[in-house]
Parts: sequence; C-alpha cells; structure tokens
Amino acid sequence: MPTVAVIGASRGIGLGLVKRYADEGWRVHATTRTQEGPGALGAVTGDVCLHGLEVTDAAQQRAFRDALGDEAIDVLIHNAGVQGDGMSAAAVHRVNAEAPIEMTELLMGAVTRSEQRKIALITSQLGARRGSRRSLGTYGESKAALNDRFRALEGRWREQGCLAVVIHPGWVRTDMGGPRATISVEESARGIYEVMASLDDSRHGRFWTWDGREHPW
Ligand SMILES: NC(=O)c1ccc[n+]([C@@H]2O[C@H](COP(=O)([O-])OP(=O)(O)OC[C@H]3O[C@@H](n4cnc5c(N)ncnc54)[C@H](OP(=O)(O)O)[C@@H]3O)[C@@H](O)[C@H]2O)c1
Repeated sequence: MPTVAVIGASRGIGLGLVKRYADEGWRVHATTRTQEGPGALGAVTGDVCLHGLEVTDAAQQRAFRDALGDEAIDVLIHNAGVQGDGMSAAAVHRVNAEAPIEMTELLMGAVTRSEQRKIALITSQLGARRGSRRSLGTYGESKAALNDRFRALEGRWREQGCLAVVIHPGWVRTDMGGPRATISVEESARGIYEVMASLDDSRHGRFWTWDGREHPW
C-alpha cells in the first residue's frame, strides 16, 4: 500500500486525515509536537508511525527526515497551522508560511522516491488576495504568503517530478474553526483525500477546495 505523511496530526483536520488514510489501508507517518504521549493519535488503528515534530525547529525537521530513512512518501500533506491568537505576526508566518515550504523541500527526496509523488499544503480561503491590496490580517497574510511561496516554487517541484497543490480544507469544526463551522473533520478529510486521489498533471500548481472546486488566488 502507498504511504502518506501528515504533518501536524495531533488533533483537528490532521488527525482526521490520519484516520482517513489509515482506514483506506495506507501506511501513515503522523507528526505531533505534543510531549504528553500520542493523545488521540494513539487510538487510531492501522499502520500508523508517530513522530515528534515542532515544525519551526530545524533540528526536529531534519530528525524527522532522517527517521524516514529510505522510505518513500507517496503523499505529503503539510497541515500544521495556527490561527495566531496571542502570537506575534512573525511567529505566525514562521508556522504558516515558512515551515510548510521548508518541510516540503526537506522531504522532496522521500516524495520523489515514491510512485505517486504528491504534495498538499493546507492553506485557507482567508489567504486569497483576489487582486485586492487590503490587509488580510495576520492569519490571512500568512496563508497568502504561503500561497505566494507555493506559486514561486511549484514549477520547480513539477520539474522534479512532483504534483503539488494548496488546499482550503473548508470551514471545519475544530479548535481553530469553532463549533459553528459548517463541515465536520470527517467531511473535510474525506474531501482532501479525494482531491489528492484525483490529482494529476492538469490539476498541479493550483488552489483547490476540500470539495474539489478551484479557488481564486
Ligand atoms: N478549521 C478550519 O475551519 C480551517 C479553515 C481553513 C484552513 N484551516 C487550516 O487547516 C489546518 C488545520 O487546522 P485545524 O482546524 O485542524 O486546526 P487545529 O485544530 O488548531 O489543529 C492545528 C494542528 O496544527 C498543529 N500545529 C500548530 N502549530 C504547530 C507547530 N509549530 N509544530 C507542529 N504542529 C503544529 C497542532 O498541534 P498541537 O496540538 O501541538 O497544537 C494541531 O495538530 C491549518 O493549517 C489551518 O490553518 C483550517
């Protein structure tokens, strides 16, 4: 069976993705930065390997890459993100805009060793500038910066043999999305799974929603 790596999987959408892929029979590498044991991830059944990873820590990034050894990663999903309450704008950018690119570059060897060679960075519709010059706020600006970096790099990633996209996961009932959000974690994870399953050359380099619609930049 193919292998997926889900970065930022302790709760919310990341945890839902781990369950989804494990249920489909995939081998799953799941990362969490929590120090207090595996938490909810420990209850997921299937072929799931847990790793510690604070995505902003360069030494931990490299340790995760090294822990994968020669294993191939068919699908890499960088999900970890913060809304940023109580954080500086720089710290939010570090997590939401810089770390996903760093992790992708670091794991490119593992992805290009695989058969499917697919990458998804979880962004947000709040990071869509839609041609406006107005500030999107700290969170939106960080996701817009992620989208900009993705657009600058997707051509090179394609040349390296990968299919890469950014995905808005929907407004999801998680700690971040809140209880009034419109879709469940399971619906979002199922949608992202389907978007990745149908990812091909014609869909590479673009901004998709969890339910398979193209989103404007
Ligand atoms: N929920 C929504 O409606 C919504 C909408 C649009 C986009 N998104 C995006 O979807 C992704 C997942 O959101 P969510 O709703 O599932 O959020 P969540 O419930 O707040 O979970 C965020 C996840 O990211 C991890 N994380 C945050 N900072 C990290 C760091 N520095 N190092 C390692 N892991 C880190 C968290 O780990 P800890 O448990 O250790 O904190 C947690 O696993 C995010 O990128 C978010 O921006 C969500």
